[in-house]
Amino acid sequence: MRLLDAELTASEEILPGQWLQAYQAPWLAAGARAGQFVHVRTGDFSGMVLRRPFSYNTVDPVSGTLTIHFRTVGKGTDWFTRLRPGDRIEMLGPLGRPFEVDRRSRHLLLIAGGLGIAGVRALADEAIREGRQVTLLFGAASARDVYPTSLLPDEVEYIVATDDGSVGHHGFVTELVPDYEAWADQAFACGPLPMLRALARLAVSRRGRLGVAALGRKRGSGRADPPGSPQARRKAFLQVSMEQHMGCAVGACLGCVVMSASGAPQRVCREGPVFASEEIDWEAGW
Ligand SMILES: Cc1cc2nc3c(=O)[nH]c(=O)nc-3n(C[C@H](O)[C@H](O)[C@H](O)COP(=O)(O)OP(=O)(O)OC[C@H]3O[C@@H](n4cnc5c(N)ncnc54)[C@H](O)[C@@H]3O)c2cc1C
Ligand code: FES
Repeated sequence: MRLLDAELTASEEILPGQWLQAYQAPWLAAGARAGQFVHVRTGDFSGMVLRRPFSYNTVDPVSGTLTIHFRTVGKGTDWFTRLRPGDRIEMLGPLGRPFEVDRRSRHLLLIAGGLGIAGVRALADEAIREGRQVTLLFGAASARDVYPTSLLPDEVEYIVATDDGSVGHHGFVTELVPDYEAWADQAFACGPLPMLRALARLAVSRRGRLGVAALGRKRGSGRADPPGSPQARRKAFLQVSMEQHMGCAVGACLGCVVMSASGAPQRVCREGPVFASEEIDWEAGW
C-alpha cells in the first residue's frame, strides 16, 4: 500500500452523471488486482476531510494507468468531475482484498448492478488475459443507464437486464442468473445490497453441485480452509464485493463493519471488500 500522487490524463462523462477518469500512477497500477480499491483525497481547498473509496475499474501496469468509474452522488464525487487533465491528486492503494479465481475455473460469471460494474470490470480484463470465458450480466434501471459495450473487451459475452424493459431482459438482473448457473465455475458480483442478498440466497442452492466448489473439496480427510482465507474464497461459488461507508480504509476506525455468519465483525476495508457470499450474515442488518 502506498500514498502517491496521481495525474489525471482523461476524464469523460460516459453516462448521465457517470464519469470515467484515467490516472497516470505507475506505483498504484503495479501489483493491483481486480476487486481492490484506492482511497482518494479531494484537493486542499475542497473543505472535505475524508478520502473517497473507488474500485480499480481497469488497471494497466505496463502504461502505469488506472481508471475509476463513478457516479456523482455528493460533494466529493462532484469535486472530481471538475478536475482537468494534468491535475494531480493523492491516492492511497491498492487497498483491500481481491477476487480469488481458482486456477481450474474456465467459465466466470460476472454480475453487476448499476455502478457495481466498476467493482467487477477489472476482473473481466484479468480473466480474458488468462484465457477464461467471461459472461457479464448487467442490470440497470433503464436503457440510458446501460454500460456501453464499447468499454468492454470484445471477448466478453454481455447480457443486459433493465427494470423498465427498455432494453434487454425486462426485470432484475438476478432473474438471469439461473440460466448461467450450471455453465459457471465461479460467480463474482458487485451492486446494491438487495441484489447481493438475492444472489447469496441463490448461491446456497448451488453449493456442493458442479464446478470448482465441488472439485475443490477433498473427500474424507483434510482440514477445511479457514473462512476468509484466499483458499476458502477460491472454492466458494459466489464472491461479492461490498460497499460500506468508510472512514480510514486501513482497518483502524471500524466504520465499515459487516457481520460474518459466525457473528464476528468484518471490516470491509481490510477483510473485504471482497468476501465469499457464505462468509456474510445477510440478515444481520448492519
Ligand atoms: C470499497 C468501495 C469501492 C467503491 N467504489 C466505487 C466506484 O468504483 N464507483 C463509485 O461511484 N462509487 C464507489 N464507491 C462509493 C463511493 O465511495 C461513494 O459514492 C463516494 O465516496 C461518495 O462521495 P461524495 O462526497 O460524492 O458523497 P457524500 O456527500 O459523502 O454522500 C452522498 C451520498 O452517497 C452515499 N454514500 C457515500 N459514501 C458511500 C459509500 N461508501 N457507499 C455507499 N453510499 C455512499 C451517502 O449516503 C449519500 O447518500 C465505493 C465505495 C467503497 C466502500
Ligand atoms: S474504514 Fe476504518 S476500519 Fe474500515
